[in-house]
Amino acid sequence: MLFFDLPLRLGVLASGRGSNFAAILEAIEHGTVPAQVAIVISDRPEARALGHAQSHNLLTAVVEPRNFPDRAAFDLAVVERLRAAGVQLVVLAGFMRLVTPAFLAAFPGRVLNIHPALLPSFPGLHAQRQALAYGVKVSGCTVHVVDEGVDSGPILMQRAVAVLDDDDEESLSARILAEEHKLYPEAIRRIATGEIRLPGLSLAMQRQGVA
Ligand code: GRF
Repeated sequence: MLFFDLPLRLGVLASGRGSNFAAILEAIEHGTVPAQVAIVISDRPEARALGHAQSHNLLTAVVEPRNFPDRAAFDLAVVERLRAAGVQLVVLAGFMRLVTPAFLAAFPGRVLNIHPALLPSFPGLHAQRQALAYGVKVSGCTVHVVDEGVDSGPILMQRAVAVLDDDDEESLSARILAEEHKLYPEAIRRIATGEIRLPGLSLAMQRQGVA
């Protein structure tokens, strides 16, 4: 069932490997997630996510920070491209930059992120390394709405992953990543079907006369 009249239009921001983006796209192409990827934007021209998007005939853009005087100007350029592509929901998928308040104001309550830990534990970089160093027996991944803090916005979904005695950063990261690939598409599916209501998204759709 679709919550919106048209498939939800996603804008994906990715800096690197893009395996979460690939998992989301696969779920869309299988018909599991009633959404469409309107554009994939990267801050790095070499990001694998871009090649993957192009091989699926998706619109892509590279916006490089070095071409802008500051973070606000960079974010404005990204927002312009998202808006031009008619993006309704922004999906951060391994995007290695913090978004500015102006970015969030352009998509209030409509920016998602996935983090490889059970927030609020282990925010920031190297979450899996932090979990191992602390000695927790369970970690996992979290899909949350982005706010102005670091990995601190409202939590939408989480999945737990056991930390094994012989885990190292690589093995734990790989097991968490496998869960991320299920969790992120599922969170987007629930948003697209209205099972998860994002107040910011519903309001924006009403204004556009979509929902
Ligand atoms: C994932 O572990 C995600 O949780 C984190 O960055 C990584 C991105 O991986 N935010 P990929 O680019 O999606 O493969």
